[in-house]
Amino acid sequence: MRQFHIDEEASRCLLCADAPCSHACRVGDPARAIRAVRFDNAKLAWKWVKDCSDADLDAAQQACIHYDRPIRIGEIVKNLPEAVEERDELPSLSIDFCGIKCENPFFLASSSVCTNYEMVARAFEMGWGGVFYKTICLQDINEVSPRFDAMSNSANGDFYGFRNMEQLSENPAEVDFDILKRLKENYPSKVVVASIMGQTEEEWIELAKMAEAAGVDAVELNFSCPQMRLTGMGSDVGQDSELVLFYTAYVKRNVSIPVIPKMTPNITHISQPAMASYFAGADAISVINTIKSITMDERGAVTDKKTVSGYSGRAVKPIALRFILEMTKNPIMKNVQYSGIGGIETWRDALEFI
Ligand SMILES: Cc1cc2nc3c(=O)[nH]c(=O)nc-3n(C[C@H](O)[C@H](O)[C@H](O)COP(=O)(O)O)c2cc1C
Repeated sequence: MRQFHIDEEASRCLLCADAPCSHACRVGDPARAIRAVRFDNAKLAWKWVKDCSDADLDAAQQACIHYDRPIRIGEIVKNLPEAVEERDELPSLSIDFCGIKCENPFFLASSSVCTNYEMVARAFEMGWGGVFYKTICLQDINEVSPRFDAMSNSANGDFYGFRNMEQLSENPAEVDFDILKRLKENYPSKVVVASIMGQTEEEWIELAKMAEAAGVDAVELNFSCPQMRLTGMGSDVGQDSELVLFYTAYVKRNVSIPVIPKMTPNITHISQPAMASYFAGADAISVINTIKSITMDERGAVTDKKTVSGYSGRAVKPIALRFILEMTKNPIMKNVQYSGIGGIETWRDALEFI
């Protein structure tokens, strides 16, 4: 099996929580090893399977619940590259972001992966430095289902992009702010950011004050969701520099925690709203949200209808980097801090953004 084949095989893994393959293996943790290969750390994969016999790996492979065919765990292990020695003392990855001390620069972006207490708690326990929690609003959000699908390579099933028509959190705002309060109390070293979206000046202020009262570290202003059902919200705001300026300024005047507007890529010159938010006092800028696209194809169409919604994942990484570059090259915004988002899968992707 060639190196690229290991990657391909590992990329089929469904990344099960509490993976059955690792349960079936007596001595190692094949799920961790496969995850290491999948996320470009193949040289560290060996340590999770070094004591496994062929029988252990066979048992692991038989336990795989992949819907298509089991991951060829034994073959992946046989073809792992030479292991590297792990250093005893690792350098610190801690950073200062908007004056907040962060254990590391890796945060969950506001989305369906962080919509309740348990999801975020698990991410924190796995080592994530912080979370931008799923966007909280004051409207009733009734999502459709399905609302998410993956664009994949028909030859090997490897996915390269996601399309989603999800809007904001379906929880009442009080419920979400209570979750954020408990997360901050139980994980004080982690950074908890409330993402919010109002429809009027009053709503922006009310939500920001609720966030501050919940004890979160910062507030992110969602000016960028491309599929809001109501007009005057999400990317409608992000495309209008004047609204970005006003809403950022209103929030800044009413809370003392850092304020981080999130920009939309559905615009020609991102520097215009970004500068508006900077002049209104933004402490940092998040970029990018999803790119307007068509959802979904015939396999996932909801009652045969299609609509405009957001595209994300590996395919959007160069576009996200282009927008970040455009802002960092702007001499007026030299000292702004950025939260870079868009298609980050591996540590190499993260390094490119940094
Ligand atoms: C299913 C889904 C739900 C999302 N919900 C939100 C949201 O509530 N608020 C927000 O600011 N961005 C939301 N996003 C956008 C992501 O935070 C992120 O900006 C975008 O997906 C690009 O990053 P990625 O390529 O790593 O997914 C969502 C994205 C997805 C795929």
